[in-house]
Amino acid sequence: MKRRPFLVGATVVAGGVGAAFTAVPFIASWQPSARARAAGAPVEVDVDKLEPGQQLTVEWRGKPVWVLRRTPSILERLATLTDSGRLRDPLAEVATQQPAYITGPLRSLEEEYLVVVAICTHLGCVPLFRPEPGSVGDDWPGGYFCPCHGSRFDFAGRVFKAVPAPINLEVPPYRFLSDHQIEIGVDPKPTTS
Ligand code: FES
Repeated sequence: MKRRPFLVGATVVAGGVGAAFTAVPFIASWQPSARARAAGAPVEVDVDKLEPGQQLTVEWRGKPVWVLRRTPSILERLATLTDSGRLRDPLAEVATQQPAYITGPLRSLEEEYLVVVAICTHLGCVPLFRPEPGSVGDDWPGGYFCPCHGSRFDFAGRVFKAVPAPINLEVPPYRFLSDHQIEIGVDPKPTTS
């Protein structure tokens, strides 16, 4: 007679364990987002809470992508750099590194926001966010510093001369869904005139 409570208890535990084991494959198949992301599904980013000078990182196609909100002072420094002779490709002329609709030295759809793949074009390390001028040498204007072999990029993802990385960081396809919604992985809709 005393076995009954034990059997009930054992059944509940076994049921619980069984439920846990069966739930894992169910959840894995029920959440396609990770697989879809790796396969290239677009990623929406809300930049509403991004303060000037801040950046966030999202994952797209298994790669980190930065969205940086550039300040007026960053934009001024980028303009100075364009004509400084310090950059390898200041006007972003290497066509593989950005979609055709991203033109000009700021390498963006809206000058306030940089969207760039956070993978060094030398051997694939993730560079560091180093916004403070002078923090990576006296002439450092703020930008991205790769800790692996010292490549440097500005806040348009443009590579400096005399570093191992040969070309600018990649700008992925993206579009604005609203003033503060960016969709990465999708080209802008063609405008009709
Ligand atoms: S991987 Fe960045 S400098 Fe080598």
